[in-house]
Amino acid sequence: MRVLSGIQPSGKLHLGNYFGAMKQHIELQTKHSSAIYFIADYHALTSLQGESLSQHIIDVAMDYLAIGLNPEKAILFKQSDVPAVTELSWILSTITPMGLLERCHSYKDKLAHGFSPNHGLFAYPVLMAADILLYQTDLVPVGKDQKQHIEVTRDIAQKFNQLYGEIFSIPKELIIANLGTVPGTDGQKMSKSYNNTLEIFEEENRLRKKVMRIVTDCKKVDEPKNPETCNLFTLYSLFANEEEKNKMAQRYQKEALSYKEVKEELFEKIRSYFLPFAEKRKEIAREPEYVKKILKDGAEKAINIAEKTMEKVRKVVGISL
Ligand code: ADP
Ligand code: TRP
Repeated sequence: MRVLSGIQPSGKLHLGNYFGAMKQHIELQTKHSSAIYFIADYHALTSLQGESLSQHIIDVAMDYLAIGLNPEKAILFKQSDVPAVTELSWILSTITPMGLLERCHSYKDKLAHGFSPNHGLFAYPVLMAADILLYQTDLVPVGKDQKQHIEVTRDIAQKFNQLYGEIFSIPKELIIANLGTVPGTDGQKMSKSYNNTLEIFEEENRLRKKVMRIVTDCKKVDEPKNPETCNLFTLYSLFANEEEKNKMAQRYQKEALSYKEVKEELFEKIRSYFLPFAEKRKEIAREPEYVKKILKDGAEKAINIAEKTMEKVRKVVGISL
């Protein structure tokens, strides 16, 4: 069973990335026979270019290692170090119906947020399908927002297999049940693109300020409050066990409670949860060359797997003589 996933290096990693995806990536590295994780720099190019991109790439690699990625158990590499992915992406794009891409929510969301619609943004799901199919992936652990992209990948893979024979494994998404989408400080989906994140390695004072800015309704201290519709409660629940969650829900409904108190408790929970990772992150940051070497070794392994698929693909589509 092969597990594969990618993270865009488009900004600092946040609680949505961690609880929606990366935490599972770490857990899965020992559970299945093969785990592959990559830094999706080609995807990030659709929204970011230049020096900050290269900084984010190395940052994401360090973050992964700090939260527990073990390069002896999982392959970690940078997407663009395996050029076959763009080749496969082009081949797949020639059998991908326009309508399939026009229906993608993430593309429509980006437009709604004022991004100018370049071709890369439109073709994004095809490159993602190439990422997944190139490595004959069975399982893709991602956040809920990526579900449609995996469905698109399945559609493309099935169409390719119908046309050319059983070349690709058909992948399934793996989405954490009951998590939903982690809300940002403004209540929308937490996303690097929306400037509403709580970063996993945020400096303490900045983290406190951001937590204090989380949007809530305007209920007064002695008014009963609804935990089910409250972003703050959703964020608190990420860190709380069942007992703590029930207790907090009761305080919302039955006791005098200010949102400020909840924010203080949430801040403390985030801080203490990530503290051990932050210590490790500091150590790793002292050795950028070691991190680059891990990416390079990972790319070599990834290329070996990718080439096996590409040999078959080139042959069946007719470009290999
Ligand atoms: P962003 O939207 O911040 O750019 P990415 O698109 O790079 O994040 O997402 C990386 C992974 O984190 C994906 O698997 C995605 O589903 C997950 N993820 C991102 N934001 C959230 C969120 N708010 N809630 C749950 N999962 C999320
Ligand atoms: N699009 C994904 C995201 O924004 C990142 C990604 C790129 C990915 N290629 C992938 C995730 C392949 C899983 C598999 O989160």
